[in-house]
Amino acid sequence: MAAVQLDHKFVSTPKLVEPASAPKYVESALDYVVPEIPHKQAHDEIFDALRKRIEAINEETCEPGDENSFFVCDIGEVQRLYNNWHKRLPRVQPFYAVKCNPDHRVLAKLASLGVNFDCASKTEIEKVLALGVSPNRIIYANPCKASSFIRYAAKNKVLKSTFDNVEELHKIKKYHPESQLLLRITTDDSTAQCRLSTKYGCELEKVDELLETVQKLGLNLIGVSFHVGSGASDLSSLYKAVRDARFVFDKAASQYGLPALQILDVGGGFQFDTFAQSSLVLSDAIDEFFPTESFGNLQIIAEPGRYFAATTFTLAVNVIAKRNLGEQEAMIYVNDGVYGNMNCILFDHQEPTPRTLYHNKQFHYYDFDSSSTKKAASLPHKVSMWGPTCDGLDCITKEHYMKHDLVTGDWIYFPNLGAYTSSAATPFNGFEQTVDTIYIESSY
Ligand SMILES: Cc1ncc(COP(=O)(O)O)c(C=O)c1O
Repeated sequence: MAAVQLDHKFVSTPKLVEPASAPKYVESALDYVVPEIPHKQAHDEIFDALRKRIEAINEETCEPGDENSFFVCDIGEVQRLYNNWHKRLPRVQPFYAVKCNPDHRVLAKLASLGVNFDCASKTEIEKVLALGVSPNRIIYANPCKASSFIRYAAKNKVLKSTFDNVEELHKIKKYHPESQLLLRITTDDSTAQCRLSTKYGCELEKVDELLETVQKLGLNLIGVSFHVGSGASDLSSLYKAVRDARFVFDKAASQYGLPALQILDVGGGFQFDTFAQSSLVLSDAIDEFFPTESFGNLQIIAEPGRYFAATTFTLAVNVIAKRNLGEQEAMIYVNDGVYGNMNCILFDHQEPTPRTLYHNKQFHYYDFDSSSTKKAASLPHKVSMWGPTCDGLDCITKEHYMKHDLVTGDWIYFPNLGAYTSSAATPFNGFEQTVDTIYIESSY
């Protein structure tokens, strides 16, 4: 990787009210580091799985639903992403955010690699425990939990959890006093794809109330957590969040006499295409605010979801209908959409990329330029693409330009569709909630 000049001189001690402006080196890191793709997608294996499945379907005679959309999941990609994580953030122990994609085989692979888990609910905890994972490898990272779920965590010895309000501390005192608590602080996530700090996190100005309550109730505070927003793009917020966490570490010890905090939880928000930069910014912020000389025993953890799930899954959908609007303009209807596995368009602000997979009895998997949102001479067919429900909201793309004149029976695929897709699919209009997943394990 290109050497990056880091200029630390401008960094002042954390301020409570007025956060420092983005450190210069964050911008210079973005300038100098060539984005590194941590994985080389296993195209041959993915294509082979897609092809075999489609070749086995006879459009004319198949049973209803045999031509349903389906996923190809590459377990080898999980391994590659893990290797890359380990290489770039060796000090940071990942706790995979199960909510992002709770696929059983993905969870099992991550567990076998030694990755731990961030669970948001009783069901997610149950799912992870059922894999044989010890409860001390789970963080219940939901700052507002139902009392019955807190009791469930207590019963199952899940000790680590996050909180951001006084009321939660009273519930925890009552139902799970042995909890090991991480105080979640807010971040500046204004540029993230999905903001989280609008809902969760305590502002620095208000942590006193929480620290006081921890002290008064005799609870066990072990660390600080944050999340810079899912699909975060402003890396300076990562830097500022680490700085703010240090502020809470210092305050807890110096003003409230609490035992030294042991865990820094840097949350999620990592993406494969910016990971080289974000890991660099994070490592540097950790070195600056939690230097090993003073924080040798500090445990640093993270809650990545999207990073491990997005590129692991490819979705294939069937063209079920077409409405011609002109010679080279049409509405294309496919059998999955925003109420199904492409709910990420609504909830996660994703813009899935359609590519022609099968047209005119031929496969076009490797035609990576078979579509674009921009008009081009090589892409003469203007389409809008729609899901199968009767709702007008069920639109995958309003305008795309395609190389091929798609017709009923053709197949389209969407790469990188594993994050926040199947986990929030609904059976609205009677369309199946879960579709088949074909697993491959490409070489690492
Ligand atoms: C508490 C918490 N941790 C981790 C994640 C995972 O975030 P990402 O998929 O952006 O890594 C989320 C996402 O909503 C979250 O709410």
